[in-house]
Amino acid sequence: MGASSEGAPILARMPRRSLLAWLGGAKESLARDIEVARERDPAARSTAEVLLCYPGLHAVWLHRGAHRLWNRGLRLPARLVSQFSRSFTGIEIHPGATIGPGFFIDHGMGVVIGETTEIGEDVTLYQGVTLGGTGKETGKRHPTVQDGVTVGTGANVLGPVVLGEGAKVGAGSIVVKDVPPYSTVVGNPGRPVIVDGQKVRDVHHPDMQHTRLPDPVAEAMACLVRRVTELEQDLADLRAGRTPAPRIPASDEDCLPTAQEEISSILGLNPGAGI
Ligand SMILES: CC(C)(COP(=O)(O)OP(=O)(O)OC[C@H]1O[C@@H](n2cnc3c(N)ncnc32)[C@H](O)[C@@H]1OP(=O)(O)O)[C@@H](O)C(=O)NCCC(=O)NCCS
Repeated sequence: MGASSEGAPILARMPRRSLLAWLGGAKESLARDIEVARERDPAARSTAEVLLCYPGLHAVWLHRGAHRLWNRGLRLPARLVSQFSRSFTGIEIHPGATIGPGFFIDHGMGVVIGETTEIGEDVTLYQGVTLGGTGKETGKRHPTVQDGVTVGTGANVLGPVVLGEGAKVGAGSIVVKDVPPYSTVVGNPGRPVIVDGQKVRDVHHPDMQHTRLPDPVAEAMACLVRRVTELEQDLADLRAGRTPAPRIPASDEDCLPTAQEEISSILGLNPGAGI
């Protein structure tokens, strides 16, 4: 092995054809990044404006470099690129995150994307979105975001949940469960308002036949009203000198849940999280 090939710069060592292919690919993906920014942000007026003024694009470009370093085992340099990108753009993408083509972050400030996040094709995020872990898991602990998903400003998607193809997450939502494809979830906890492209009717007035998707907040209110009615009945019995009728659990092994346990279960909160 001659000294000439050992010390040659990386570009000189690349076979000519693969260098040309790489440059062609880079040019194509750059053009697509600019096109998606112009397509998805009506405020984008020219290519020059997009190239110079879109931190979401700068963060994605820097992430591609960081991700390549990460995959080659150069973990610290990868983290350094990611941290530089964070201070330059306000967007923190862990170099381990996998991001597909056509990804666009609008405005961008405050976006955080965790290490094991997987993002498909043509995904859009707005400022302040977190694709994070819950702090409990190890291994795959961040969301999987399938093709064509949009996540609104300030939404938090936590844990190894799947946002199905074409799903939308409303601004300010907190999502800790999978979202089916072509659904829209809003609120905290995120609840579906559109499923399979169809509006879930009466989202704020639940159908007590449960033939439609439930509204957990309204269900929690209904549970509270039932509990208060029961307490009023017990109080009336005690005042009248009667023993209140016992409430029977579903089976011998079951205990009746407390109001807090019942409402936490309706709202999908962790035990002990409080309400
Ligand atoms: C969630 C979202 C995608 C829904 O849009 P859509 O598909 O057109 O659905 P609709 O506007 O018909 O909303 C469906 C229902 O959810 C409610 N809703 C919509 N967005 C909501 C939100 N972020 N939080 C709480 N409720 C919301 C609507 O009031 C409506 O309720 P109703 O049926 O009782 O009237 C959209 O409202 C949103 O939040 N987009 C993010 C935009 C964003 O982040 N922009 C940043 C620009 S800088």
